[in-house]
Amino acid sequence: MKLDRLLAKHESMGRTRARAAIVSGTVTVDGRVSRRIDHEVDRFMRVEWSGTVIRSAERKIHLMLHKPVGVVSATSDAEHPTVIDLIDDPDRHTLHLVGRLDRNTSGLMLLTNDGRWSKQLMNPERKVPKVYLVETRDPIPPDAVAAFAAGFHFHTEDLVTRPVLLEILGENLARLTLHEGRYHQIKRMFHRTGNRVVKLHREQIGPFRLPPDLGPGEWRHLDHGEL
Ligand code: URA
Repeated sequence: MKLDRLLAKHESMGRTRARAAIVSGTVTVDGRVSRRIDHEVDRFMRVEWSGTVIRSAERKIHLMLHKPVGVVSATSDAEHPTVIDLIDDPDRHTLHLVGRLDRNTSGLMLLTNDGRWSKQLMNPERKVPKVYLVETRDPIPPDAVAAFAAGFHFHTEDLVTRPVLLEILGENLARLTLHEGRYHQIKRMFHRTGNRVVKLHREQIGPFRLPPDLGPGEWRHLDHGEL
């Protein structure tokens, strides 16, 4: 919202008085005088007018969580515990999910109340890599590497999946890097090769890697350096 609009709403001050107040230098945004009537202010900014608080800044939250199997990646669910239930923070209900995982998938999830940040990470154009560890029912043949790189046609969406980097780590174990997130994508891709995923775990989203000391069900705030 623009600064003049926000101020105009305060005690029905109106746009004209609001603009005059801004231009005369009596309005601060995050403690600094702003004379720009079109200054974009969001809910994380503190706005004061002659010492009166017009808007107190909301706390921005960015966190990583180790989702255990069995927990739903949603903000509410009638049947199962959700990732929000794992977060003992008074502002947890302001959070939304940066991407999702199936209920029987474990691993890294990011949560925030900062829509700008999550939009950037989720923007398909940015092709943020996501890394998964996959365990399969049957051995993974070496030619699966080429098949995953070439992509699979998904009939429901009528699209070909973007190239996936598949590293075979053991007979039934692989690391996968994808740059998109289609519904049940990994399970569907293995299904197409006649195989089945029996265990799926997300290790990384872009630059954020699940640390070994963050156990299932645990979470922590991301610090400024990481952001
Ligand atoms: N692909 C899947 O099939 N499931 C997930 O949870 C994530 C990616």
